[in-house]
Amino acid sequence: MHIHEIEVVNFRNIQLANLTLDTHFNLLIGNNGEGKSNFLEAIFFAAFLKGFRTNKRVDLIRKHDKSTTSDLMSVDVKITQQNASVCLSTTYKNRKLYARVDNIIVEKFADYASYLRCVLFQPEDVGLLRASPATRRSFIDRMLFNIRPLSVENMRLYQQILKQKHRHLKSEKVDEMLLDIYDEQLSKLGGKLTFERYNLLKKLYPYFVEMIAKLFDKSLRVEIVYQTSWGQSLYPNSDVITEEEVIAHYVKQLSKARHREIMIQQTKIGAQRDDWNAMLNGYLFKSTASQGQNRAVVLALKMAEINYLIERQKCAPVLLLDDISSEFDVKRQQRFFDFLDHFETQMIMTSAAPQHLPITKNIGKIWHVFQGSFEERENLPS
Ligand SMILES: Nc1ncnc2c1ncn2[C@@H]1O[C@H](COP(=O)(O)OP(=O)(O)O)[C@@H](O)[C@H]1O
Ligand SMILES: [Mg+2]
Repeated sequence: MHIHEIEVVNFRNIQLANLTLDTHFNLLIGNNGEGKSNFLEAIFFAAFLKGFRTNKRVDLIRKHDKSTTSDLMSVDVKITQQNASVCLSTTYKNRKLYARVDNIIVEKFADYASYLRCVLFQPEDVGLLRASPATRRSFIDRMLFNIRPLSVENMRLYQQILKQKHRHLKSEKVDEMLLDIYDEQLSKLGGKLTFERYNLLKKLYPYFVEMIAKLFDKSLRVEIVYQTSWGQSLYPNSDVITEEEVIAHYVKQLSKARHREIMIQQTKIGAQRDDWNAMLNGYLFKSTASQGQNRAVVLALKMAEINYLIERQKCAPVLLLDDISSEFDVKRQQRFFDFLDHFETQMIMTSAAPQHLPITKNIGKIWHVFQGSFEERENLPS
């Protein structure tokens, strides 16, 4: 899969960008703050209908100054896969989002999600294992969207009902029969979500181990642990659990937590409180591993995702590599590029210091980014 053409209008500091991309290697260069990451975020938006640095779509609309904002923002991409083309258009106007596939409005994100698969690398990712559980959940959920786009609908429903339950817990008079209904639905939807996340880590684990050995130290034995909201640690490489079992856990645990949830007016149990992490020699990474090992895990997981998409789903995702040279040493970058060389993936990479990149192959296209404008260049600056 690759993006052939892209038009970005009023997205962050980009007023208008119209680019025809190289099928393989695209490099965006420019100083900090010029709009390189914004461009990657626009592509990410076309894939996931959200930004990667905010949860609020309104933040993405171009502001002219402190008080005036553009009326609408849009990102249109023409993608090609296996000789067929499809146009994805997204417009955000008056706080409403319109997504179209070949000019036909799509009502459900699940119907839209499978067209453009992107894997994003950003400098912030390297701190993932020490970040908040919410950051780790969204990291895993993004992988889940890529690998199982249909899971999006389940997650949307889960969040909708969770919000209703939350609101009800905060109301003056709590109706336990209504809570029974919410909990029954949340057990099913949340059970599916927890199971899908866990199952994803299970599927990726063999690829992950291979990538760790390829990129880093063969003797580095890393396990992944999935922590449920009821306090169970599940190991995707060895434990087996079914969706029905997870649902049964939720039914039991939600009933046990009922009294406390009413008292504190908050939900205690559910997929919204799951977490995962990596373990090194039996200890959680965040307490024992070095910064380099932390980075290794994140990079290896992403590489496992790419490998899985290509090998098992025959779908090469578009790679958005945001300033990775600032976080990885030259040796790791070199091995990472060698790994990518095996695949026919499209890469869109940003850098403020391109002279330090260990690039050995041909760069297809280079753009210089300046104040949200893009100018194509023949060569790298010397
Ligand atoms: N909604 C917005 N409207 C206008 N400018 C924005 C908006 N959001 C971010 N910016 C501007 O985008 C710039 C940052 O761009 P970014 O792509 O992160 O830079 P870099 O080239 O370093 O990756 C900042 O100058 C910021 O003020
Ligand atoms: Mg940036």
